[in-house]
Amino acid sequence: MSRIGPHAIYPGSFDPPTNGHLDVIRRAAVVFPRLTVAVVANPQKQGPMFTLDERADMMREAVADLANVAVETFAGLLADYVRGQRADVIVKGLRVVSDFESEMAMAHFNRALSGVETVCLMADAAFSFISSRMVKEAYLLGGDVTSFVPVSVARWLNVREAVETDAAKGPPLQR
Ligand code: PNS
Repeated sequence: MSRIGPHAIYPGSFDPPTNGHLDVIRRAAVVFPRLTVAVVANPQKQGPMFTLDERADMMREAVADLANVAVETFAGLLADYVRGQRADVIVKGLRVVSDFESEMAMAHFNRALSGVETVCLMADAAFSFISSRMVKEAYLLGGDVTSFVPVSVARWLNVREAVETDAAKGPPLQR
């Protein structure tokens, strides 16, 4: 792909993608001419609910209308990945002040390892309470989370629910 201006990488677990992630992506795609959403293969958090391919597919569908946004996956160190991509900047979203502490440490770390700067966008206040963790927890306890996630994700959650319901019913009766 040709390079006219900075290439930004927006990394995350996206398990699953939320409306908050999509808000950051849409705004970052205005600021940066090229944006790669990088879905991490091995989140530190225990046991992702969705596989890497599922998370990447849900994200691809959600950003399909954004011509300058690509979705990739990566495993290992973010600093190595951004250097390999010859990216200029890492993008993160900050929802609340407590996000800042860990993001600041990661920004220092990533710059020390790769020389790449981190730019943080402030999450829209409307999305400041939404996290993948809360969405998962509410969903697993039977809550309706469709207003917190993109349509592509809501559809996956419905499919998953249907599969799980069928599995719970057991095999069809043999007559
Ligand atoms: O959506 P998340 O889980 O909050 O995103 C965290 C993520 C994926 C950005 C962070 O865990 C990460 O960069 N992981 C890759 C491994 C790595 O480079 N770790 C050191 C970060 S300083």
